[in-house]
This record gives sequence, C-alpha cells and structure tokens, in this order.
Amino acid sequence: MSAPDTIMSSMVETREFPPPGGFAAQAHIGSVAEYERMYKRSIEDPEAFWAEVAENFHWFRKFDKVLDWRCPNAQWFVGGKTNVAYNCLDLQIERGRGNHTAILWEGEPGDTTTLTYSELRTEVCKFANALKKLGVKKGDVVTIYMPMVPELTVAMLACARIGAPHSIIFGGFSATAIADRVHDANSKIIITADGGWRRGKIVPLKDNVDAAVEQGTSVETVVVLKRCENEIKWTGGRDHWWHDLVEGEADACEPEQCDAEDLLFILYTSGTTGKPKGIMHTTAGYMVYTAYTAKMIFDLKPDDVYWCTADIGWITGHSYITYGPLQNGVTVLMYEGAPNQPDWGRFWEIVQKHKATIFYTAPTAIRALARQGDEIPAKYDLSSLRLLGSVGEPINPEAWMWYYEKIGRKNCPIVDTWWQTETGGILISPLPGAFTLKPGSATKPFFGIDAAVMDSAGVVQPDNAGGLLVIRKPWPAMLRGIYGDMERYQKQYWSQIDGKYFTSDACRRDEDGNFWLMGRVDDVINISGHRIGTAEVESALVSHPAVAEAAVVGIPHEIKGQALAAFVALQVGRAAGDDLKKELLKHVGTQIGAIARPDQLRFTDALPKTRSGKIMRRLLKELASTGEVKGDTTTLEDFNVIASLRDDD
Ligand code: PRX
Repeated sequence: MSAPDTIMSSMVETREFPPPGGFAAQAHIGSVAEYERMYKRSIEDPEAFWAEVAENFHWFRKFDKVLDWRCPNAQWFVGGKTNVAYNCLDLQIERGRGNHTAILWEGEPGDTTTLTYSELRTEVCKFANALKKLGVKKGDVVTIYMPMVPELTVAMLACARIGAPHSIIFGGFSATAIADRVHDANSKIIITADGGWRRGKIVPLKDNVDAAVEQGTSVETVVVLKRCENEIKWTGGRDHWWHDLVEGEADACEPEQCDAEDLLFILYTSGTTGKPKGIMHTTAGYMVYTAYTAKMIFDLKPDDVYWCTADIGWITGHSYITYGPLQNGVTVLMYEGAPNQPDWGRFWEIVQKHKATIFYTAPTAIRALARQGDEIPAKYDLSSLRLLGSVGEPINPEAWMWYYEKIGRKNCPIVDTWWQTETGGILISPLPGAFTLKPGSATKPFFGIDAAVMDSAGVVQPDNAGGLLVIRKPWPAMLRGIYGDMERYQKQYWSQIDGKYFTSDACRRDEDGNFWLMGRVDDVINISGHRIGTAEVESALVSHPAVAEAAVVGIPHEIKGQALAAFVALQVGRAAGDDLKKELLKHVGTQIGAIARPDQLRFTDALPKTRSGKIMRRLLKELASTGEVKGDTTTLEDFNVIASLRDDD
C-alpha cells in the first residue's frame, strides 16, 4: 500500500498539564532543558550517546563499533558479546538485588506467587538446562504459547540464556494461527500449559497446540506446564511435563555469549497481506534500548512496583514486562486474567493490594473501565500510584482526562507511548518529570529518535499539517528484518520514502514540536490496541467453502477504538442467512482467533470495484460506519453494487 498524499487533521486540544508537584524534583530527567540538551547530543552524535548508555550493561566482550548502517541493514554494538538474560538477572544480583522481588504474580482465581531475582535466576537456569537436554541449541527457534504466568517469563529468559530465539504466540490465537507461525519459523518445540484462566474459564491451550501440531508442522517436542489441572490429551514421546523436566536440574546454567546481532526473538505481527510477518529483534541493541527507555520513560526507581497489563504475547509485554523492567531491577507485577473477573474493580484491587506505583495499559481498557462508572475506582486506595502509561492506539482526550482524574487523582503524569512491534521500544513519549502534557499527544521523540512528518514524496510538512510519520535515523531496538523475507522488509519499511523508516501511521506535529498520532494509513486495523490486517481476515473468510469473495474494513468502535466490518459475496448456489453468518464468524475465530472476528458481516452479490478490479474499501468503510455512501464513486465499476449493499442492511 502506498502512502496517501495529504492527511487532514482537525483535532484541537489546548489543555496542558505540567508534572504534578514534586515529580520533577525526583525524576531521572527533571526539566525540558535537560531533555533538549540530551536530545540534541543524541541526534548530533548518536554513536557517542549510545556508547555511553551501553556502559551500564554487562558485556562478555565490549563492542568495537556502535553502529554499522547500510540501509536497510543496521548492526548495533558491532563485535560486542553479551547475554540479555544475564543482564536481567545476574547483573541485578551482582548489584545487590538478589533478594528483591522480581516478579509479583497474581492468577485470575486470586492465587499469588513471588520470585526474587535470585529465585528467578534459579528457575531460568533449571529450565534452560532442561531445554538443552531436550536438544535445543543456540539459534533454534522455540515457540511459546502460554498463559500469563511466571513460567512464561522463565521460559523466555531461559531461551535468551542459551541463545535460542523465542517466538511467542498470544494465547488468544487459534490452532491454525499457531501452525502458520510454527511453520514459518520452522520451530521444532512448543512450550505451553494445560490451560490458562480467563474470565473464570479455562482456555484450552494444550488442545490448541495439539490441533496445531496435527496440521503437519515441524514440531517434535511439546513441553506442558501444569496450570489449571484440566484434562488434556497426551502424546507419549512428544509431550513432556515442565515439572518433570526441571526436577533435578542444576540451578546454574552458563549463559551463552551471544553476538550483539544474534537473533533474540521473532514476534509475528499483522501487515497488509494475508500472511503475518515474523519481526526479528536481535540482542544488544534491543537490550540497551528497552532497558534505557524503561528507566527514563517510566522513571523507574529501585522500589517501584511496576504493572503493565499487556499480555507477554504482544511486543508491549516483551519489552515492558520482561526485558526493560527486569534490567532495571524493579518489581514487576503480573496478572493472569481479565479486568472484569470477578468484577470491574479487579485492576484497582490489584493496585491497592500490591501497592503498584506504575500502571501501564491500553486506551481500550481505559475506555472499558471508565464506562463502568467512577464509583468503582473510587472504592479503592490508589495512592501508591505515581505514574500512568498508555499504549497501543491514540488515546482520546476524554479517556485521558478520566485516567488522569479518576485513577491518577491528578497526582500522576501520563506517558502516552507511541511505538510498534517493529520499533522494539518506545519512540515517542513524554518524559514524565520534564514534559507538560497535552491530552491526546504522545509529545516528543525519545533520545536518538529522529522523527518527522512528511508527505509521500518525502517533503517535511509544515507545523500542524497532517502527514506520514517517518524515522530518519536507525535506532538500537529497530527490527532487523522479516523472518525469511528480507525483500518485504526493504520494500515495506525503507522504500516507501526512500531510505527512511516508514511507520504506516498518520501524524501531525504542532508548533511546540509535539506529535499527534492519527492512526494507520494502511489496511491494518487497531482493535483494542492489537493489530489485525484486513487481508488476513479476508483470506480467512475466503477459505470457507461458501465464500467467493470478501472485503473487510475498519469502523470506529466506542470501546475497542476500531472494529471490523466484513462484506461477503457467496459462491453461486449458496444462500445467505443467519446460520451461515454465525458459521463464518466462527470460522474466522478458528482460523485466526476471537480478536479477529468482525462485529458486522453483510452478504452481497458483488463487491464494489474500480475499473481495474480493486475493491473500493473506502466506500465500504463509509457504508459500514455511517450506513450510506456520499463519497466519490466515479471510478466505481458497477454503481448498482453500492445500492444493493445499502438495501441489504
Ligand atoms: O498505529 C500505531 C498504534 O499501534 C501500532 C503498532 O501496533 P503494534 O505493533 O501491535 O504495537 C502496539 C504496542 C506498541 C502503531 O503503528 N499505536 C501504538 N501506540 C500508540 C499508537 N497510536 C497512537 N498512540 C500511541 N501511543
């Protein structure tokens, strides 16, 4: 998808919120002047800037060169040898944090576990030894499909310790989605659990893995954690219980001395084609950037109890539950379940009970929580909170104000953090002790991030004129490629505006240099802060024997931000009806997962197309959102199609 030429921006928001009393004085970055001084240096001499930041980490071998950049291929900390798990655990223990709580976990039923940094290292080493015994070697991709339990963190750190890249699949994805990802990564092992708790029910994770493996994958070994004690099928020789594997294993495991550019993980994300892309992140750049952004943006201090409500299956969980916070030696609060289990007070009860100091969530959750009424959070003591964060989609000013007043009680800055699976870490965000906040703006670029708003020809746009967000310089945590498809990597990210990183987000920059994100310009829809490519849902629909053709578009949704609307043309001889509609929605759930299920599905005789055969998604979007079509239809092949779609409604 190419970039549109112009983007209109009509939002005007004038409220401003300086850091609340006392915050600036204790913050890592306490003034705009300090931010500007550091930012200037980071842009003018990025190599010196990042070399200095990198000094604070453990290296088996110091790097020879900070950056080798041959667009689109970046190498950071060239020649350096390190281990990310070592930096998350051993380095913290060496710094005297061994007895400090690393993970404070609460299951949905209310069970809790804590692990100190030393205990976490022991668990990681035992599991790393077990993986080795199963034959996992440096460079082997390990698939992880688990609930939000401490063992998920253990599994990912164990992989990092032995240099085996992980590929984590969100627990809401279906068997087919697992099979596709396992196949793409040629992974021979899956780590899963019998089940996980979600809204009082057990998610049958092991059943999904069984069904995925049966689809002819490369998987030879399945490791199963006992979590819910639900009944599961067992395949002897292939399946192993986690607890049997770790029993008797040594509690030390020599960390692999990984090259700075060794693959740390693959994470699949949606793009504009039907096939998800495996985003590749490597070792040292990702390690340094996630640790440093976590420290500065969340203003992390040793006694913080930091809670990010994301699932580790998404990039937010990778970077800001596991790798970023643990490298700062803080206590990471983890919760397994849903925000409304047993009721909508659950998040606030957890904050109160564990005295969380930092709370990081998505606008969709904030809107859902706000809708339940102010009385719910008002019942809880939220005075431990000192900082709030938002991620995943633009936060509308109303949701921002509710979060600021009802949760932060006007005492907590909000960091609205803009980033992507591909960027590895946060690129645009307030520094909470320095910035005056404007509700709805992610404010300014982080150190080293050269962000600009351009038109599709690469011309920088004037203040307040909408355009495309691009990043003009490489940064340490940037993706290094798409697994198995470097051509797509070059084309998608570095060619749309030659030699610059193309974000696919529309944006404007105001006269004070604040960035206002305006949503995606491609066919990727942001549902509840999660990315779904419309092409993926279309291909799932078309894979059903009754469907001839399908078009899927995004429409506004009060809670989820956006939702999907599907238009389906059936094969000749198939009759439309409610039963088929239900069956098709279920089919999308089975092919991808429940998050991809459209909210609306309409049958049509044909889809509106241009003369060259392109589906006119713009018209469908207008129709699905407003119930009618006023837009320009001059290139439409068959005007009757739109009339019949309207009638069908
Ligand atoms: O459109 C932007 C939106 O989420 C997209 C990236 O999605 P994903 O790779 O799943 O990562 C989400 C978590 C980092 C972006 O292209 N997005 C993310 N954060 C924000 C946002 N849009 C506006 N404001 C944000 N703070």
